[in-house]
Amino acid sequence: MSSCHKAYITTPIYYVNDIAHIGHAYTTIIADTLARYSRMTGLETFFLTGTDEHGQKIEESAKARGKSAQEYADEISATFRNLWDDFGISYDKFIRTTDADHMKGVQKAFKVMYDNGDIYKDVYKGHYCISCETFFPEIQLVDGEFCPECGKPTTVVEEESYFFRLSAYEEKLLKWYEENPECILPKSKRNEVIRFVEGGLEDLSITRTSFDWGVKLPEELNDPKHVMYVWLDALMNYVTALGYGTDEAKMDFWPARIQLIGKDILRFHAIYWPAFLMSLGLEMPKHIAAHGWWTRDGEKMSKSKGNVINPKEVADAYGLDNFRYFMLREVPFGGDGDFSQKALIDRINSDLGNDLGNLLNRLIGMSGKYFEGKVDSGNVSKYYQAELDEVEASLEKLEPLLFEMQIHRYLEELWRPLTVANKAIDKYQPWTLMKEGREEEAMALNGLIAAILAKVSVMLSPVMPEICSKIASALHFTIDNASWNHLCKAKGVLETFTIEKIPPLFPRIEEPLLVQATPEDVPAKSKKETKKAEKQETKKEKQKEEGVALIGIDQFFQTSLKVGTVIKAEEVPKSKKLLLLQVDLGEEAPRQIVAGIKEWYSAEEMLNTQVCVVANLKPAKLMGYKSEGMLLAAKDEDGLCMIRPEKPKKPGTPIG
Ligand code: ME8
Ligand code: MG
Repeated sequence: MSSCHKAYITTPIYYVNDIAHIGHAYTTIIADTLARYSRMTGLETFFLTGTDEHGQKIEESAKARGKSAQEYADEISATFRNLWDDFGISYDKFIRTTDADHMKGVQKAFKVMYDNGDIYKDVYKGHYCISCETFFPEIQLVDGEFCPECGKPTTVVEEESYFFRLSAYEEKLLKWYEENPECILPKSKRNEVIRFVEGGLEDLSITRTSFDWGVKLPEELNDPKHVMYVWLDALMNYVTALGYGTDEAKMDFWPARIQLIGKDILRFHAIYWPAFLMSLGLEMPKHIAAHGWWTRDGEKMSKSKGNVINPKEVADAYGLDNFRYFMLREVPFGGDGDFSQKALIDRINSDLGNDLGNLLNRLIGMSGKYFEGKVDSGNVSKYYQAELDEVEASLEKLEPLLFEMQIHRYLEELWRPLTVANKAIDKYQPWTLMKEGREEEAMALNGLIAAILAKVSVMLSPVMPEICSKIASALHFTIDNASWNHLCKAKGVLETFTIEKIPPLFPRIEEPLLVQATPEDVPAKSKKETKKAEKQETKKEKQKEEGVALIGIDQFFQTSLKVGTVIKAEEVPKSKKLLLLQVDLGEEAPRQIVAGIKEWYSAEEMLNTQVCVVANLKPAKLMGYKSEGMLLAAKDEDGLCMIRPEKPKKPGTPIG
């Protein structure tokens, strides 16, 4: 069926009950990177993403907004699609589970499974979590009621249902995992799945009668009160997108080369999905790759916590390619990642600015100063074969790393040639070569640096397409299958050219670019949340005008205020506003408090003074430093002053 010249790459289809955040962007960017790489290396590539629009959760979300489910799905689906378009995501198809041909394909699949005896009708009794669209057996519930995955209350469901004979696939699944050590990546996840399946599989309820918003059963079954379980509907998208059950022209892209998912939906993809495929007589995907979870300050992102990071705002502030590089480089695939502006800024300034951008600047400088911008690679191997060999050795390691989903290692390895280049300039010193009249060697050095930059930018282009095409155009070539063949596959160098002087690609970033009132380091909030914050602000203003709302004494005492002594004070590097204080609150260890007072107090002035501290504030991170409290201060047009006890008090003395 499939040939090795084809590469089918998929993302999960995202629920339309939420707007896209960096978690969704992460999956999609990884898939985009793989798709771009596949195309560049000459594979016929099909890259699928889309939205998951049926089910009770969506039906309820729509109702809550006074919209029809279709209207609501149209709206949110478009926000995903617009974001990916904005990001230049190179998908070949954007599927929606409300597409007519998708629904037809799902019905066809249901019919095939029904006809071969894998589907039967019975009564379902169990606990359902609407938020996760998942059934849970009683023993898995927390406190007999709450969802073990998301903690929300489950509802008891007893209804007629069609079942899929999942139990019949236990052995076949185990055999598949066994015979294909890389079917689920990373391998630790495969082991998890194997253990789960070895624990025994129950048949799966795959239809519901309690709501409407879903794909109806095939007409032949004549059972109109049922709609299909949203996960059956959703998983089928991976083949209906290729025309399964309708126009099957693209089915030769199946099996997928790689199906990317987050670890939250591993069970659906590593157990249900292959079992459905077996029942349909379709081949297994080559790899299912599950990545880890992005958190914000160690916490799960959620709308209610207001800590969701909007990928568009991050990309707008820091540059899309920089954001892409950061996400892929920062976290080993499969591991969890914590988003912070500080980490992002470090990657931009150091990996991208110092190592890559600066190398291009050095080349522009050298060739401009000594050769009027000319770069000639003719004599590179004559003088610098050792360096070239080292570079090629690194580049050879790259391809397998990418498709084993070791993207962070791919990028790490890709930085070695840059080190070789930077070191070569320091070692051979073009200025010395020129002084000594060894012009040919100096020009060859230019050629070496240009060749390295060219090779690296080709291999980096799937991750950073725009930046790399800028580098390529400065070096007078274009990144495509031909240049990949010549520079990377055939280990060639560049033709003679005159370098384009381009402005620095990675201007140094000194301060977080997503500035918020407080805390300083909280990045992007969605427009809605900004609006909410604005509303709160007007509420505050109103309170000022109308007098502050009254609270009870017990409400006041929910705030723990204490006297503290500043025993250490220093500046937070690179911050105009922040001091880093260690404050003795009479506890075992001093508290670290990051205070936005530097414009009014120097570190010296703060040292050994007493302050009033809000002691039970949830810890926050500011510019990468943990802050375990807040100082009381008063601020008006004339500036800010600390609120301090009138007489010295023992550290830890309560206030109130
Ligand atoms: O589960 N960190 O859709 P979904 C990393 N419709 N990745 C994250 C993330 C985070 N904090 N949050 C979300 C569904 N993701 C189903 C899928 S597929 C047939 C049906 C990413 O909108 C990650 O890829 O809840 C995760 O698997 C996916 O979004 C879940 O998206
Ligand atoms: Mg989810």
